[in-house]
Amino acid sequence: MSSRLDQVEESATLRLADMTNELKRQGRDILSFNLGEPDFNTPSNIIEAAEKAMKTGKTHYAPAAGIPELRDAIAAKLKSENTLDVSGKNVLVTPGAKQAVFYTTFSLLEEGDEAIVFDPGWVSYDACVKMSGGRTVWVKSNDDGSLPEGLPKYVNKRTRLIIINSPNNPSGAVLDKKDLRLVADLAKDHGLFILSDEIYEKIVYDVKPVSIGSMIPDRTITINGFSKAYAMAGWRIGYAAAPKAIFQNMLKVQQHTATSPTTFVQYGALAAITGPQDSVESMCRQFRERRDVVVKGLCDIGLPCEMPRGAFYAWPKVEGSSEKWAEKFLEAGVGLTPGSAFGPHSDDHIRMSYASSMSDIKKGLERMATVTGGMEGWTKKQKQK
Ligand SMILES: Cc1ncc(COP(=O)(O)O)c(C=O)c1O
Repeated sequence: MSSRLDQVEESATLRLADMTNELKRQGRDILSFNLGEPDFNTPSNIIEAAEKAMKTGKTHYAPAAGIPELRDAIAAKLKSENTLDVSGKNVLVTPGAKQAVFYTTFSLLEEGDEAIVFDPGWVSYDACVKMSGGRTVWVKSNDDGSLPEGLPKYVNKRTRLIIINSPNNPSGAVLDKKDLRLVADLAKDHGLFILSDEIYEKIVYDVKPVSIGSMIPDRTITINGFSKAYAMAGWRIGYAAAPKAIFQNMLKVQQHTATSPTTFVQYGALAAITGPQDSVESMCRQFRERRDVVVKGLCDIGLPCEMPRGAFYAWPKVEGSSEKWAEKFLEAGVGLTPGSAFGPHSDDHIRMSYASSMSDIKKGLERMATVTGGMEGWTKKQKQK
């Protein structure tokens, strides 16, 4: 067995998901708020485009980097919406953004190289770094999601990559220009690369995220996809825009592993990016309504929570072990993800996805109140301290 995989732990997310499934099998009524994907259906214009492609023979191998029409459409989007200076030649279409994250770490890291990952951070960054032979250096973000002072002290001769994710999974924080400038300057001064995971860019509330690639194009790999913005998680389609040399290496990895993303799926993605965007707006409106109910509800039952500015997760604080809390909430019929899954400094949080119906959210909060003791219980506890 490869020792590289020994270091990749089975995630707490999966352990809790197994427990949830086991309870469901026993007939228990569990409301799951651990979902990492929109609960909406893929818009019909996208489905129709993929169906048409399938029926008209788009069922053969595609060019390894993706079909040219889609690569060009992605480049046009990145230019106009994200002010990135890219052409279709720099765009690699991948079977999901996750694959693009792995191609990046695998292309850049040598054995023992270090990647800076902000905590809390999405579960797969650490795994991708380790599977690529690298080492994750976790840096704790501030409570409001902004970046901490003193970043240069985490950089040494082995540092190669900084991974940022804005809007962030799990905290929903969006990095402002000042923080992005800090990261860009650090990369420039020390010859590092930046992986910017922008998969939640369309799910935002009163804020427009900035793409760091517009500040430092020659050192940034911009990753995005269709799973969240267009409710296409099961289609497995995403992309990366990268400087030429890195692009070539990432393409090699894709050629020898996936070959290319599924051909007719790429036509669905083309319809998503070039077609009407009203379903994205309507999804976002609904997420905002749920976010407001969830954040208020969590604060009311004694779980203090920052207001997320993007994505569809709430990230309340808990006292003590997040896995123990997740188990307690599960016993009460609510599935949540323990903060420990998102980094070594995040055991004092828990993640609640609000990609669920409003009625389930309200029912879930009521069940959670039975665990926290509700507002009254919380107030009493504070007084006893
Ligand atoms: C931050 C982040 N990046 C990437 C992904 C994966 O996206 P995809 O479905 O395109 O592989 C996820 C999915 O949960 C995510 O939360």
